[in-house]
Amino acid sequence: MQVKIYKDNQSLSEAAANEIIDLVKKKPNAVVCMASGDTPRLTCKLFVEKTKKEMVDLAHMTFIGLDEWVGIPPENDGSCHYFFQNEIFKPLHLSLSQIHLFDAKAVNLEEECKKMDKITFEKGGIDLMIVGIGMNGHIGFNEPGVSFENYAHVIDLDETTVTVGQKYFKIPATLQKGITLGLKHLQESKKVLLLANGTKKAGMVKKTIEGEITNAFPASIMQMHPRGFVMIDEEAAGLLENKN
Ligand code: F6R
Repeated sequence: MQVKIYKDNQSLSEAAANEIIDLVKKKPNAVVCMASGDTPRLTCKLFVEKTKKEMVDLAHMTFIGLDEWVGIPPENDGSCHYFFQNEIFKPLHLSLSQIHLFDAKAVNLEEECKKMDKITFEKGGIDLMIVGIGMNGHIGFNEPGVSFENYAHVIDLDETTVTVGQKYFKIPATLQKGITLGLKHLQESKKVLLLANGTKKAGMVKKTIEGEITNAFPASIMQMHPRGFVMIDEEAAGLLENKN
């Protein structure tokens, strides 16, 4: 794992957006997996702008969504689906065949997990995974206590995730379970970027980088990834012992 500290969220997001652009230029059929949420919002915006400006051809790339709230339909503005539609798919006119998101309304969620695992394997694995970190150390919906060996799975959401998660919804939502790629997918991804910005994430970032590697704090798995990059701004780096 490497830690990269940026002046602010703008420069951090520019660097993350460039990672996607550079990858797709080098490998047009790249597989990119991303989290939704507040953290990658600016990265998505800059990615869209740069793709248009540099006329990057995305026609052969594959986009995989990291997770979804079980029971929340895609048209709900708090869903991960809705986020990606608006932030990436619509502005860049990605075709449906390139996009793979969890159907959180599927009758058989186990099958839905198998489907996402299969897509990931068939595409040759994830080239670039971009994740955020929750206020309990979760990655995707890999909640505290989750196995590092899981592929896609359905999970009971942690209390913190349920409480914090309301920030995405205009009308309060019933959040109980999540459906998510697992930490085995993260370990097998060729490169992983964990992004965090702002003082509110400083404690989580410190535990991710300087804490014990434990499934009680899932983001600590980043320490084990040979091509894992924790990309943070100065505010999120505020509590680190070692900033070099
Ligand atoms: C969302 C996801 C979550 C978020 C995390 C941080 O798709 O995977 O793990 O990345 O909860 O959320 P924000 O970025 O809103 O602070």
